[in-house]
Amino acid sequence: MEQFAPPNQKKDTPSEWLYALVESALDGIITMDCSGRIIAFNPAAEKIFGYHSDEVIGRLVSETLIPHSLQKVHANGLAHFLATGRKEMIGRRVEVTAMRADQSVFAAELSVISVNSRNKPVFIAYLRDISAPEHPENENLQYAINIKKTLMQSILAVSRIIEIRDPYTAGHQRRVAHLAAAMAKALNFSHERIDGVFLGALIHDIGKIAVPTEILARPGKLLDEDINYLQIHCRKGHEILEPVNFPWPVAEIALQHHEHMDGSGYPQGLRDEEILLESRIVCVADVVESLTAHRPYRPAYSLEEALSSIRTMTGEWYDRQIVTVCNDLFKKGYSIDAIDMDELAWLSSL
Ligand SMILES: [Fe+2]
Repeated sequence: MEQFAPPNQKKDTPSEWLYALVESALDGIITMDCSGRIIAFNPAAEKIFGYHSDEVIGRLVSETLIPHSLQKVHANGLAHFLATGRKEMIGRRVEVTAMRADQSVFAAELSVISVNSRNKPVFIAYLRDISAPEHPENENLQYAINIKKTLMQSILAVSRIIEIRDPYTAGHQRRVAHLAAAMAKALNFSHERIDGVFLGALIHDIGKIAVPTEILARPGKLLDEDINYLQIHCRKGHEILEPVNFPWPVAEIALQHHEHMDGSGYPQGLRDEEILLESRIVCVADVVESLTAHRPYRPAYSLEEALSSIRTMTGEWYDRQIVTVCNDLFKKGYSIDAIDMDELAWLSSL
């Protein structure tokens, strides 16, 4: 039987021990010089990334191991460290996204230390792939992400039903959802709350299912009785959504999205803080999107005309803070036209 043999201290030098330690480690160990070039790549790193060490040594970490979208962040982080000596990443265990040789990305746990070699910093990264299915916490996370995607797709499908019945507003709810979520983000809402605004806006007009198609599709200006009929869509929407146990106030958004700050809205005539903040956001997004869209009975307003129109009613109909946030968003270059209509999910917390 083979016996464990203690190291022969006379024969093995410390550098041989260190070499054995690095070569046999289960974690990837990658050494990088201060220009970001790889100078050592252990067998575990080869296995994790799918590169042979010969293929990566001498190449930039940012070009080989980091997803394209994060390369700039990495380069800036390294430059920041070298310029200031500030060590936000050093000596901490963090979760990052890395890229394999086949360009697939994966979640990894990373810790980095810096040591001085010939008066220049050298960085040693310890990296563990945590995307493998043997990590149950990762499986649960993936499951939660899949369920959430499915939920979003289902709500989007419901949203399309309304748009099929109301041909003049095709895409309306999706554009309102994007704009409302962008406003919620600008208001520093949590990821979860942004999701609620997005999903609530995506089906805010679901109650239109109860409005006859001849009213929805009437090409001219609406008659008074049509308007009364249209107004019931808020209560109908609430009726449809209320039994669903959403973790967000989706039914309230459908009920309140036509309420005004001065109580002149419908269906309940709520005022100020009586109206849920989410509903006030969707209300402004709804008006801006509707005005900038073409209708058979009127041409589309320009963006500036639409924004000026909501500014005129600030405080009376629309929440002052939300109007400011909406104006600022467009000033910073947000564009309703740039929304990708095939994009299914608002990726706030995915
Ligand atoms: Fe509506």
